[in-house]
Amino acid sequence: MSVSATARVLFVASEIFPLAKTGGLGDVSAALPAALIKLGADVRLLMPAYRGVLRQVPDARLIADIDDLAGFGRVRVLLGSAPGSGVPLYLVVSVPLYGRPGEPYHDEAGDIWPDNDERFALLCHAALAIARSNDGASDPWQPDIMHCNDWHTALVPALVNAQRGDGPAGAAPPVRTLLTIHNAAYQGPVSAQQLHEFGLSTSADSSAQGDTSFLALGIQHANRLTTVSPTYAKELQTREFGCGLETLIAARAADFTGILNGVDYSVWDPSHDAALPAAYDALDPQGKAACKRALLQELGLSDDMETPLLAVVSRLTAQKGLDMLVEASGDLLAKAVNLVVLGSGDAGLEAAFRALAADHPAQVAVRLEYDERLAHLIMAGADIFLMPSRFEPCGLNQMYALRYATVPVIHAVGGLADTIVDADDESVEAGSGTGFVFRRPSANDFMSAIARALLMRENTPAWRRLQSNGQAQDFGWEKAARQYLGIYRELIAR
Ligand code: ADP
Ligand code: GLC
Repeated sequence: MSVSATARVLFVASEIFPLAKTGGLGDVSAALPAALIKLGADVRLLMPAYRGVLRQVPDARLIADIDDLAGFGRVRVLLGSAPGSGVPLYLVVSVPLYGRPGEPYHDEAGDIWPDNDERFALLCHAALAIARSNDGASDPWQPDIMHCNDWHTALVPALVNAQRGDGPAGAAPPVRTLLTIHNAAYQGPVSAQQLHEFGLSTSADSSAQGDTSFLALGIQHANRLTTVSPTYAKELQTREFGCGLETLIAARAADFTGILNGVDYSVWDPSHDAALPAAYDALDPQGKAACKRALLQELGLSDDMETPLLAVVSRLTAQKGLDMLVEASGDLLAKAVNLVVLGSGDAGLEAAFRALAADHPAQVAVRLEYDERLAHLIMAGADIFLMPSRFEPCGLNQMYALRYATVPVIHAVGGLADTIVDADDESVEAGSGTGFVFRRPSANDFMSAIARALLMRENTPAWRRLQSNGQAQDFGWEKAARQYLGIYRELIAR
């Protein structure tokens, strides 16, 4: 590995848009590798071939057929190109583990697959097989760096280190590992017994004496760690936000960096968004009204264009703080506002929003589903975007909202705090204010921030200025990609 050579990076993820997406990880796994390639890196993707994925990668060709990969049975590896970006993409085919109906992590009823540990341990082993490239593969490409993302891929560093320790000198793959933490709340718990089955004996891995998790092991074993915003990088080292990993993470502080995610403006920009009935941008904002009209009509809400339309597009989990919206809904809906909620997940939150829509059919529209097109239309047609997250590693929606001239109301945590500047008369006039920020996670404080937004909306010139401040923000991926590239170079030079 020479420092000047192009970094060869295997980017491993459990979801990559448009093949699989449940949240922001899917968007990041599609956009960041493409941005890295633009800067000259040699990046390939790796993900499971969930049911229906192969159909979307028509150029996929078999490069390895392994009788029994690390005890997981017959595994085939295909190489094709990711739809949209054309980035080279390895797909791991295991019919019993990935070829089932349902979602990446859940069955069709929304219940978590009980064998997720096994399913994603296989993904990790497949990454190692590619790094070794000696399992009968017809393609000799070998990565310098394995860039792992979240718990699903976090056994890779431990496996690399175990092989390095066990194998004969020179047999271990000359590969460095980077783990990016997108969300520390999901850890992939695993027992010592299971780990043993996954090829990590407790003797080879002194840290795995008792029960642990994929993520904890990744934090201990990766050569380098990042997370998706500078503020979350600090928060993760505290008891309040560390999800029990704060001590492990703090011990790696010297190797840990927060890099703010970017926005793929080829997908998220109302000047060329195929999901919208009309295009618009900061210079020609008229089309936003047509989007709002179409959205109100589709949702069956009154087509009164003056009434502010507030929106949520979110996974419905405790993370997102939407219990505060439910709690504030009495006060909120006493005002002349409409509300649309698109999301699915937690049964209690789904029930609460369903009840809210039933009680206020003229004001509230709720869609408890996943709908990419509708997410774009809501982003464009709404006036105000609500993100009261209790924690938020980065958050992409608030950045999307800015470009769509939809003013975000956010709780100042993680990436939300790093991307939105509170709006008051002065900050709006100065060009810096972009949204409404509250600092204590309570329904009252959330409601006060919404009330400030509604008040400013009555002042049309100020509101227009606020919207254009947001539209002018540039969160393109290049900046983050350069930072990742710096880390790859540093790892290769080690
Ligand atoms: P997280 O990754 O925690 O879910 P982000 O803000 O980073 O949060 O990313 C959320 C992504 O998922 C956005 O692209 C958003 O539009 C999308 N999304 C979330 N829920 C839905 C849904 N119900 N329908 C369509 N898109 C959704
Ligand atoms: C996670 C986080 C979210 C982040 C996304 C992409 O799902 O919850 O805040 O934007 O990953 O990094």
